Amino acid sequence: MPPRKIIIDTDPGQDDAVAILLALASPEDIEVLGITAVAGNVPLPLTQKNARIVCELAGKPETKVFAGCDAPMKRKLVTAEHVHGKTGLDGPQMADPTMPLQDQHAVDFIIETLRNEPCGTVTLCPIGPLTNIATAFERAPDIVARVQEIVLMGGAYFEVGNITPTAEFNIYVDPDAAKIVFGAGVPLVVMPLDVTHKALTTRNRIDAFRSMHTKVGDMVAAWTDFFERFDMEKYGSEGAPLHDPCTIAYLIEPQLFEGRHINVEIETESELTLGMTVADWWRVTDRPANAMFIKDVDASGFYALLAARLARL
Ligand code: RIB
Ligand code: CA
Repeated sequence: MPPRKIIIDTDPGQDDAVAILLALASPEDIEVLGITAVAGNVPLPLTQKNARIVCELAGKPETKVFAGCDAPMKRKLVTAEHVHGKTGLDGPQMADPTMPLQDQHAVDFIIETLRNEPCGTVTLCPIGPLTNIATAFERAPDIVARVQEIVLMGGAYFEVGNITPTAEFNIYVDPDAAKIVFGAGVPLVVMPLDVTHKALTTRNRIDAFRSMHTKVGDMVAAWTDFFERFDMEKYGSEGAPLHDPCTIAYLIEPQLFEGRHINVEIETESELTLGMTVADWWRVTDRPANAMFIKDVDASGFYALLAARLARL
């Protein structure tokens, strides 16, 4: 089976960084055509810089990184420095990247790639707000039918919200973009908080990174040490959810995950529940199923995959 061709759309973020490392460490499974940065956890100048820092850490400075949208389609940008720190990659000291940022706008890269690659052979992996993806779909509707699949991190149902009582951060930041993506008719796999909150770091799992005695292992351990303080304080959990790597792990070992093909709609009107992913888990409506909504993960298997692959870098 040839490797899956993907575009990672991202707002690094420590967990985004681990997702990018996992993808770049798995060339037999994944060919990263490009990484497109979007404003989210921190503003765009930082997310595009952080994406390049991670590619260099992976030893892949030839990876193409593009800067995309610096604000949601209609609303004001909301960021998450309270979780990820001022730089977005707080924890360890990081040198500025030396690899170049591509001149082309991320949205144009997404459009061009989907038009140039054979139809149905490119998967989009958005792990931040969906602004770049939705903007590409609006600007070039012809590319929608050419997307093989979208595997995204976002949303929540049983787990409810993490940025408001009802909304998960990626969807909340740009609910209008999310509505476009969830309504586009592209095969969609959703990794919501319902599953990512079962992929928690623990001391042993972080020690497994540190005991690699590699720069990557040390950085991932330092990032997760920093990143987990917020969730442990808020949820009283043993560790932090590694949200974004769930998308990449799904592409490599889908059998680690379980979910249900259901209808998922996005709230874009009510200020009270803005950005809520209204998941019809019990199929009580006749709204058509549009998403594989993932609810469970073999967490030990997920971390074993992560450790095995990151040890390669
Ligand atoms: O709610 C978790 C999501 O928001 C993750 O993608 C994290 O990186 C932040 O972007
Ligand atoms: Ca993210």
